[in-house]
Amino acid sequence: MSAHTNLAGIRRDYSLRGLDRSDLLPDPIAQFRVWLEHAVQAQAPEPNAMTLATVDAAGAPAARIVLLKGLDDRGFHFFTNYESDKAGQMEANPRVALVFHWIELERQVRVRGAVSRLTRADTEAYFSTRPRGSRLGAWVSRQSEVLADRAPLERRLAELEKRYPGEDIPAPSFWGGYAVAPVSVEYWQGRPSRLHDRFLYTRRPDGGWRIDRLSP
Ligand SMILES: Cc1cc2nc3c(=O)[nH]c(=O)nc-3n(C[C@H](O)[C@H](O)[C@H](O)COP(=O)(O)O)c2cc1C
Repeated sequence: MSAHTNLAGIRRDYSLRGLDRSDLLPDPIAQFRVWLEHAVQAQAPEPNAMTLATVDAAGAPAARIVLLKGLDDRGFHFFTNYESDKAGQMEANPRVALVFHWIELERQVRVRGAVSRLTRADTEAYFSTRPRGSRLGAWVSRQSEVLADRAPLERRLAELEKRYPGEDIPAPSFWGGYAVAPVSVEYWQGRPSRLHDRFLYTRRPDGGWRIDRLSP
């Protein structure tokens, strides 16, 4: 994209389909499984990529992409370094937000909720499915720390290659999973003339979910 691109002129009209209340399942996690499956079928690249927004102790927000690696009644799972910036932010304030964007389907999902650590057993079960290089990488990186250059990474990787010559690489104690338990989930479907369809699930006191249509 050149420096002279006319950003104001970039626009796309959304017209694939609408979203009606009768399309929605009563439970937002069940609904999420349906939309994620549609994104996989539509061959969205990295359909499980999501923006994770956190807030630091001073109230300043930060956001970055992580990968959704599991979904159950505890919520949306992802894995990271427990000593990273994001982990420090989540320990100070467990309230987070997630955003998925599947442009192929003209869809967005927004989640707000509270994050908590997965169990060690969950982390170990997922870690053992990762390719060898990713497992070593988790050991090598002191995520979010300042580095002068790549040399310390290459040196630590070479040391670890020697220490763990095979596939038997344990999960580092400073690395693991989190689950985001949703308190609200919004489903967004793009529509013509910016009159999009939006439905917001919020938790009812009885444990069920209320669904409201929101103005676009
Ligand atoms: C497509 C994509 C997927 C990513 N997945 C993860 C992930 O699952 N876990 C993770 O810790 N970082 C992941 N990252 C890197 C993060 O965006 C981020 O750079 C890193 O976690 C450090 O964030 P922090 O300094 O705020 O803690 C991913 C980045 C991209 C672009």
